[in-house]
Amino acid sequence: METHKKLTIGLFGFGVVGEGLYKVLQQTPSLNASIKKVCIKHPGKQRNAPETLFTTVKEEILNDAEINVVVEVIDDADAAFEIVSIALRGGKAVVSASKKMIAEHLPEILQLQQETGLPFLCEAAACASIPVIRNLEEYYDNDLLHSIKAIVNGSTNFILTKMFEDKLDFQSALLLAKQLGFAESNPKLDVEGYDAVNKWSILLNHAYGIVEHPDNILFTGIQNIQLSDALVAKEKGLDIKLIGQAKKLKNGKVAAFVLPQFVKNGDPLSFVKNEYNGVVIESGFADKQFFYGKGAGSFPTASAVLSDISALRYNYRYEYKKRYHHTPHELTNEYFVKVYLSFDDWKYIPREKFEWIEEWHADADRKYLIGVLPVQELIQNSWWKENQTSLILTVDPIIDNLDIIHLKKRSLELAGIQ
Ligand code: HSE
Repeated sequence: METHKKLTIGLFGFGVVGEGLYKVLQQTPSLNASIKKVCIKHPGKQRNAPETLFTTVKEEILNDAEINVVVEVIDDADAAFEIVSIALRGGKAVVSASKKMIAEHLPEILQLQQETGLPFLCEAAACASIPVIRNLEEYYDNDLLHSIKAIVNGSTNFILTKMFEDKLDFQSALLLAKQLGFAESNPKLDVEGYDAVNKWSILLNHAYGIVEHPDNILFTGIQNIQLSDALVAKEKGLDIKLIGQAKKLKNGKVAAFVLPQFVKNGDPLSFVKNEYNGVVIESGFADKQFFYGKGAGSFPTASAVLSDISALRYNYRYEYKKRYHHTPHELTNEYFVKVYLSFDDWKYIPREKFEWIEEWHADADRKYLIGVLPVQELIQNSWWKENQTSLILTVDPIIDNLDIIHLKKRSLELAGIQ
């Protein structure tokens, strides 16, 4: 039987996740893993660990031959990529939680792993405590994975829960998310959907073998959602969540985006509150499966890093089967989406762009409509996120090109127009 190797760790970053990992490792002596050095940016800060552990010189870790694992949990994407590149080229395995860095450098990171044959594990980079990456890597065959729908950002889910259930205002909810260590140091990344789309780009790779820069994936955050939207949702028995979705269409290509979306009360994702994340996977024979767990915070995130460190003991590495052993899927923008839009004035809404509008409501101040648009319209133009216009996808929003004519006819018949 293989003996588990001793892991000597060089840690970059001692913030919420780094310190969490330090504490968690102290409670898991059986792992045979210890932190030899921690590289930090600001030496003056008070830290709950011996001073001799810390350095500000990255070479003290990267040039130390005894250190065989680099754990990188900093939030400067450029610095993180440099560290990861040097570590892998220097023969060290890497565990990273830097979703922005990974999403922006996927091709290079794949290349580095191929060149060096070394593991790069990043379970903490998506859905923190939920083991979604390893699951997608190992369990689902390429052809069987029909769709993934998930809440991947803890802070925005926390804010929505606090606003719409506990009646807190947006700023107070955000402040609380920051204080609890859920939000990014620049919380715009959470609120405006950047963090979620970075995670979505990473998951698309492990799920479908798709390598796509987050700039090329349709997304927005929760910045335009209004109280009036929550009232409409309540009336209709729905919740509002920021959701990443990827679905295989009839042509075999994948539709993918991160957008606010209505979910039915009773849908597994409607039970995901506060900083929790949730992932619903639909696959060929298993049908629906639901994964649930904390998506942000010190220990939940550190638990995923710990699990990656543990996996290194038996030389686990991602094989990227969907990319290298199958024909990778392609993203497509050839489909339609059914959307809810609320807005202050009809002049902000290009009604001619809709295939059809099946419901509208014109209150004195806030108006809304439900209608169907080609997704290209949302990709090419930004009117739907300007002038306080709020876009929320409907419950089952994706309409395949092959179904559009039939559905349009039926919808117009129902409306008594044809
Ligand atoms: N800011 C992130 C979130 C942290 O709220 O989900 C976990 O990745």
